[in-house]
Amino acid sequence: MDKIVIEGGIKLKGEVEISGSKNSALPVLVSSLLADGKSVVHNVPGLRDIKTIKTLLKHLGIRIEDKGGDVYLDSSHLESFEAPYELVKTMRASVLVLGPLLVRFGRAKVSLPGGCAIGARPINLHLMGLEMLGADICVDHGYVFAEAKKLKGARIYFDTPTVTGTENIMMAAVCAEGRSVLENAACEPEVVELSVALNRMGANINGAGTDTITIDGVKELHPAEHTIIPDRIEAGTYMIAAGITGGDVLIKNFPFNYMDSIVMKLKEAGIFIKREGGLLRVTANGNVAHTNVKTLPYPGFPTDMQAQFMSLVSIAGGTSVIAETVFENRFMHVSELRRMGADISIEGHSAIVRGVPFLSGAQVMATDLRASASLVLAGLAAKGITEISRVYHLDRGCAKVKRIKA
Ligand code: UD1
Repeated sequence: MDKIVIEGGIKLKGEVEISGSKNSALPVLVSSLLADGKSVVHNVPGLRDIKTIKTLLKHLGIRIEDKGGDVYLDSSHLESFEAPYELVKTMRASVLVLGPLLVRFGRAKVSLPGGCAIGARPINLHLMGLEMLGADICVDHGYVFAEAKKLKGARIYFDTPTVTGTENIMMAAVCAEGRSVLENAACEPEVVELSVALNRMGANINGAGTDTITIDGVKELHPAEHTIIPDRIEAGTYMIAAGITGGDVLIKNFPFNYMDSIVMKLKEAGIFIKREGGLLRVTANGNVAHTNVKTLPYPGFPTDMQAQFMSLVSIAGGTSVIAETVFENRFMHVSELRRMGADISIEGHSAIVRGVPFLSGAQVMATDLRASASLVLAGLAAKGITEISRVYHLDRGCAKVKRIKA
């Protein structure tokens, strides 16, 4: 079985370039379903989740050609409106095809994603939104069956902001009859980017990036070209890698526009962050200040950075409280960090992290994508050797990890 072996205690120094955003590439690739013809997406990262969505799109009849990070998609020959269990179970974001399939075929059959390590993660809000747009929805034998001759614009209120839910409904509403208004919509940059891509395809979407998105339905979309933005979670993870090792790292292709909460929290933790022209320099002197963090929907601190931040403050001088408000079970990494000497207890939805002078290398197990990243970060800072098993979680979202076979 593959594992990652890290000899810790080395200050990271050098330059790194941020890849295209996974969570932006997924919906943008899916949006090619909405227009008949050939589209191109640039700067697509080479990750397993991206491979999974391409396999699903191919299954639906899209012809795909890869040239490095450029993905050419031809949707002239769609042949299926079904997303099978085998493809949806490996990646929840596969459910994003639901809206577009409904638009193109008037019906869709998509497997329910099921639970995952970090929480129940239902798709009730995706289904509610489609129903509000006039779709008949039925859930049977683990599949969602959706049908609508013609979707009709509606006002849709999300009980809680959902990223892929907002994206799904936005894609379903682009060709609906009349106006749709999504309230309490997710404001994440990936939602904004999808709206930009859809507008390039001829959609009429306004307000993405705020909690109210207005979509005026158009007759049809045409294929277009789009470049994926840099990945904010990868950027934040490299910043912590520099910070936790007391290193000096220059980051290229840094997404300056949407990193405020991460940059501010890292500064509070004593990491030095400086813009140098188009680049970002991150340095640290080995002292980490205790810092409280609460995860929230954007522009709040991202839940996808919570585990990595916990590794950082595990060696802080003092106690930090990390509150997780987005997912109910996102502390799977805590027991692994404890194996490395971290002093962390969980109280409800908060982790109380009492800083220790140093972490010690240990054998640990990756539990989900971001938790895996947190263990790599802890391993980089720890004294001695850390061995991380179950690293397939990391392949879902990290492209540049070099591994050895055990
Ligand atoms: C997306 C991201 C993921 C990130 C998460 C939160 C992608 C591909 N993935 O996931 O990396 O961690 O946003 O920023 O973009 N919820 C419901 N009902 C629904 C949908 C969601 O109750 O129908 C709840 C979820 O259980 C969760 C909260 O809403 O508590 C936010 O989840 P959501 O924004 O939907 O996460 P994803 O879009 O799945």
